[in-house]
Amino acid sequence: MEEKLQSILERAKQGAREVSTRADLESFKARLVGPKGELTEVMKGMASVPREDKPRVGRRLNEVKGELESLFAELLGAIEAKESAARLGPSIDPSLPSPDGGPGSLHPLAQVREEICSILRKVGFSVVEGPEVETEYYCFDALNTPSDHPARDLQDTYYLPESARFSNVSKMKRERYLLRTHTSSVQIRHMLKTSPPVRVVSPGRCFRRDTADATHSANFHQVEGLYVDQDVSVKDLKALLDYFIRSLLGQDARTRFRPHFFPYTEPSFEVDFSSSHLEKLGSRWIEIAGCGMVHPAVFESVGYDPEKYSGFAFGMGIERIAMILYGVDDIRYFYQNDLRFLQQFA
Ligand code: DAH
Repeated sequence: MEEKLQSILERAKQGAREVSTRADLESFKARLVGPKGELTEVMKGMASVPREDKPRVGRRLNEVKGELESLFAELLGAIEAKESAARLGPSIDPSLPSPDGGPGSLHPLAQVREEICSILRKVGFSVVEGPEVETEYYCFDALNTPSDHPARDLQDTYYLPESARFSNVSKMKRERYLLRTHTSSVQIRHMLKTSPPVRVVSPGRCFRRDTADATHSANFHQVEGLYVDQDVSVKDLKALLDYFIRSLLGQDARTRFRPHFFPYTEPSFEVDFSSSHLEKLGSRWIEIAGCGMVHPAVFESVGYDPEKYSGFAFGMGIERIAMILYGVDDIRYFYQNDLRFLQQFA
């Protein structure tokens, strides 16, 4: 009987080479362990094995059964790997040179980000960055945004599970981690580290629970600017944004401020621009940024004396500016990595 088992096992190992599909595997299994399978027949024969041999033969039977089970699992694994490779298509070699032999170029969003930062560098701003995973404190509380503010709603903000841990971002016990909804959080991180005067610009990726359409994406980019010193006024803010928008959109661009509300600035404005240079837009006013004078409560949360210092802040979407600059009418083009689109910006 033990010889029979041995021969079943050996033949099974040979037969396994012929198995290449799920159907092959099914009939292979049926031949061995199905109701009329070879191993099943041997098991039936156990009744006639002499009593004293039963433990030994039984043990060997179990071993062979176990080996066959792992053979089946191995074959199934190989079949599944083959199926998934077929779904993925031919394998690629990422070390091959790019098909057109060109050196590549910056993504249009990166080009706009660089342009924005370089315009601001010329007037003394330096670039600082912050983490994309944030805590409620940096993204909202320190920015004077109370816990019942709609921006903090689960509808608008991606919160991370309680159990999430990030070694580079520390949080207080009772607050939640989230994906930053704006780069204004970097203001707070930077002011906590330095004392005035402050002149920084912070580009980066932001996240909101938006369903994607032509002008919305759950993942987008912003640039935040912050200027703090003694005697900074709305005039300075207007002058800076005038300079900035002219440098970015052409010397004939005009700007206008509309009163608005942001929790972290008072007064707050939305900034529109208009420019004949941008033919498609004609003389229409187009909103391009939010801004205002830093709210005293924000200064207090970073330990700056609001009696002594004043400042302004502004924020804008990089995609929005890129769409205006290049006449792109659907934000999703920026993320599809279609070379026919990207090569137009090379
Ligand atoms: N955080 C605003 C947003 O995400 C943009 C913004 C508006 C930034 C006004 C500012 C500001 O610094 O003062 O829409």
